[in-house]
Amino acid sequence: MITERGVTKMGLSGHKASHADLTVELGFFSDIGVTNDRYPDEVSAGQSQMTDDTEIQISTQDMADVDFYMHSLGVPARRLVDDSVVIRGEEMFYEAKCQLCHTPTLHTKPEGATLIDGTNLPWLGNQTIHPYSDFLLHDMGSELGDNFSQITATGDEWRTPPLWGMGLQEIVNGHTDFLHDSRARNYVEAIMWHGGEGDVSRQIFSNMPKEDRDALVKFLKTL
Ligand code: HEC
Repeated sequence: MITERGVTKMGLSGHKASHADLTVELGFFSDIGVTNDRYPDEVSAGQSQMTDDTEIQISTQDMADVDFYMHSLGVPARRLVDDSVVIRGEEMFYEAKCQLCHTPTLHTKPEGATLIDGTNLPWLGNQTIHPYSDFLLHDMGSELGDNFSQITATGDEWRTPPLWGMGLQEIVNGHTDFLHDSRARNYVEAIMWHGGEGDVSRQIFSNMPKEDRDALVKFLKTL
């Protein structure tokens, strides 16, 4: 549970689930150094190279437009759903208990989403979605840990990343680097780094015949 804008809610976004929403203001401020009404001070405030420029660099209305844009983005449709190898791979996904954290189906809250300017988007409510995530923190073992705790997350804890859309990462971004620090160079490496609560899945996966492992990876590529 985290408190943002005075409201205590469940953390949903960020590698350690430390934000309640898409936090457009934080993205502008900490990722690209654009000050705004919620974060008016530069990240480098107090350092010697800092100039006296105290002007707010993006208006609340512009941020609300970005917020609306992000809320209206769709998810790519799955591909090759009737392929027999892909169907086998989906079975293997359940066989290896991946779905216990990478939850295939969730429903959005009835009231829909609210933008940072207070606009309600009721049509985003009561939707059936397939994010392949429970959006919860899990202890993934010390090998994945970064010794850094954030809010209530310990160094070894990470929020399950949604897997929807991941099959298009290579086409869109030109690489298949995964996990919070991009250490995994492909799907198999990403699975083989699962420790802690994910260790059982890693073991079931590594004991599968190669054909089943390949099928599971092919299934992931259709998401
Ligand atoms: C105990 C919960 C849990 C289980 C079970 C689990 N995962 Fe994960 N998975 C995670 C978490 C948490 C991460 C993020 C770890 C990190 O970034 O260091 C992750 C990351 C991944 C990633 C990388 C995603 C990305 O965008 O970087 C893939 C791929 C993945 N898991 C696939 C699987 C598959 C396939 C299985 C079953 C063989 C599985 N996971 C089982 C929790 C789980």
